[in-house]
Amino acid sequence: MSVGSAVDVQTQPKPLVMQEAEFIEIPMPDDMHVHLRQGDMLRHAVRAQAGQVGRFLVMPNTLPPVSSLERLVAYRDEVERALAELPPEARGEPLYTFKILPGMRADEVLALAQTGVVAGKYYPAGATTNAADGPRSFEEVAEVLEAMQETGLVLSIHGEDPDAPVFERERTFLPQVERLLSRYPRLRVVLEHLSDAASVEFVQQGPERLGATITAHHLLFTLEDMMGSSFNPHLYCKPVLKTARDREALRMAVLSGSHRFFFGSDSAPHPKAKKECAATASGVFAAPTAVPALVELFETLGGPASLAPGSAFLRFLAGNSAAFYGIPAPYRRLTLVRRQWVVPAEIGDVVPMLAGHTLAWQPVRGTRYASA
Ligand code: NCD
Ligand code: ZN
Repeated sequence: MSVGSAVDVQTQPKPLVMQEAEFIEIPMPDDMHVHLRQGDMLRHAVRAQAGQVGRFLVMPNTLPPVSSLERLVAYRDEVERALAELPPEARGEPLYTFKILPGMRADEVLALAQTGVVAGKYYPAGATTNAADGPRSFEEVAEVLEAMQETGLVLSIHGEDPDAPVFERERTFLPQVERLLSRYPRLRVVLEHLSDAASVEFVQQGPERLGATITAHHLLFTLEDMMGSSFNPHLYCKPVLKTARDREALRMAVLSGSHRFFFGSDSAPHPKAKKECAATASGVFAAPTAVPALVELFETLGGPASLAPGSAFLRFLAGNSAAFYGIPAPYRRLTLVRRQWVVPAEIGDVVPMLAGHTLAWQPVRGTRYASA
């Protein structure tokens, strides 16, 4: 990364002295957990993240789910068609997953692995959006897990026990993960969208093959932001936002420099009408704002050192996940300019995270590549 200055040609109105603008260049973030959806929503979702992420791990909880070779090929075609509408340098590279369903066989997993998926996603039945068809236990899908261990696929877990009280769902699920790790001693496991302090500690004390994603919204907000004064449905997600203490543990996990924590936005768009209603759908549309909001947050928390080359925060955004997943190290660069901008109220018919708020850093569209 380099911090420098350049002329901001967009300064309005025409100044007598051209204003200096500050730019930073960082490794292009990899987003290891994103929901792109289907149809028009998919086209909006890829546009919203365009030029801001390098690799992105696409979640499979579509309707119908990505849970067979046939569905994977069809969904991949749909995603590639949506990406083809963007300028090549803004597309990024999708990485695919499949949804683990009861009754899946080992040969189906092998076929998916040969077709290029990098992970299988475990959603406990009823835990979140489109998860009614999920397994009731890891035992129920033992054949799948065995095959994933053999082929080297990563097991990505939505770690919540839907039968536990809302606030305890994540930590109540951890003993199941502990048993899973000892039963499959070579399986690589990612606990997705960590939300509480107990999970952070669990990952820190776990084996090297256990990693975790952390979202921007769990690093930025708490339950108070979601419903302290009035209810903000656009911050309602699974797992729900927790306390300031939990958020602090998540921030410390990023700043610890541990390579086992990495960025996954869990960007999960829902139409405004499904958010601003009685039975609010869960999910935060974070893709348009997650990266600049995190740059601002960690600069505020740690000063310029947070944005210095090789900092723990920058490796959290790009680098840690590549090492964990065994994909090439980040090679693209993202430029951001220090320029205040107001997040639009809606993108498509979806309200983005921090809609109406002013952010300090703005991504400059157009990917740069690191010189070798
Ligand atoms: C996600 C969605 O809408 O698909 N919702 C959410 O609240 N995070 C599913 C998920 O990741 O749990
Ligand atoms: Zn998700």
